[in-house]
Amino acid sequence: MRNIGIIGTGFYVPAKTLTNKDISKFLDTDDEWIYNKVGIKERRIASDHEATSDLAIYAAQNALFNAGLNPLDVDLIVLATSSPDMIQPSTAAIVQGKIGARNAAAFDISAVCAGSVYAITVAENMMRANPKYKNVLVIGSETYSRILDWTDRNTAVFFGDGAGALVLSDVSEQYGIKNTFIMNDGRGASVIQFQGGGSRYPATKDTLERKLHRFEMQGKLVWDFATKIFPEAIRKVTEEINKKIEDIDLIISHQANINIIKKGLNELNLDMSKTFTNIEKYANTSGASIFIALAEANEKGLLKKGSNVCLVAFGGGLSYGAIYLIW
Ligand SMILES: CC(C)(COP(=O)(O)OP(=O)(O)OC[C@H]1O[C@@H](n2cnc3c(N)ncnc32)[C@H](O)[C@@H]1OP(=O)(O)O)[C@@H](O)C(=O)NCCC(=O)NCCS
Repeated sequence: MRNIGIIGTGFYVPAKTLTNKDISKFLDTDDEWIYNKVGIKERRIASDHEATSDLAIYAAQNALFNAGLNPLDVDLIVLATSSPDMIQPSTAAIVQGKIGARNAAAFDISAVCAGSVYAITVAENMMRANPKYKNVLVIGSETYSRILDWTDRNTAVFFGDGAGALVLSDVSEQYGIKNTFIMNDGRGASVIQFQGGGSRYPATKDTLERKLHRFEMQGKLVWDFATKIFPEAIRKVTEEINKKIEDIDLIISHQANINIIKKGLNELNLDMSKTFTNIEKYANTSGASIFIALAEANEKGLLKKGSNVCLVAFGGGLSYGAIYLIW
């Protein structure tokens, strides 16, 4: 039985910052509402020449450097995104070509804001099933600034651009990923959506004018779903391996809303010292948020060798999941 763990992390966020105050100049909103309701102060926005794949490349290179590997050591790239460069090919394929990971297979995972836990789970499961996958690069990268409707205050204020990455490899027995759990509730598939090329309503001038081709989110339904599954998913991955909630040293949650995280922790009788958040400066970077938070927490030395770490994510699909690992 292999023990697979994280041997390197990295992240990249674009330089351009868009504050709540900047947004309030063109949208009927204000800093107080956004900060109180969601916990965001500002977000990063990709420059015109930066694609989702570009953000992913910087994050991936940082993670490989942190792991002490070079691109030729990578056997597989799994990339979570719901704002890919293109529908075809995968963003992972573009990244693989540009970083020169010539020995790697590459594909994308589409699980929206739970993309991070899905991608790590799929990568880890593939490694367990096949010993030839020794070093796997797992990436989350998003440019929601490109798919948001900037005239809609119900969605535009929530998101930001960014990418994070990690490298999975063999680690010694006491460390690594101990349990994974991914699930979906497709009854809520229309709660968060953005049309692709195969939808019933192609992006013609007419559908664009009727605003059919744009990112949509029913915020309150997401709240109900996320606050319910947050403690549930964490309990499941923890109790299945006979660990207790009190054993967890650090929870890294998908950065959707600080109030979802507070409520989730409260349900678990944990306080905010048990989590690391960066939603205030980067907003919700969807499939990238856990990778970015993990890399930043690592950079700050918050992840100690032997720490019990729990990842939890939720989002469009409605997809969700959690991972329990020993750092
Ligand atoms: C959306 C959300 C913040 C709403 O919180 P809430 O406490 O239910 O909000 P309230 O009912 O107090 O406020 C809603 C009002 O604020 C208004 N509003 C929405 N966006 C606003 C904004 N950016 N600025 C100011 N007002 C806004 C709404 O129009 C609504 O006004 P109305 O009551 O006149 O219709 C909350 O449900 C949430 O965080 N959901 C999860 C969203 C999320 O995390 N998405 C990411 C998915 S992974």
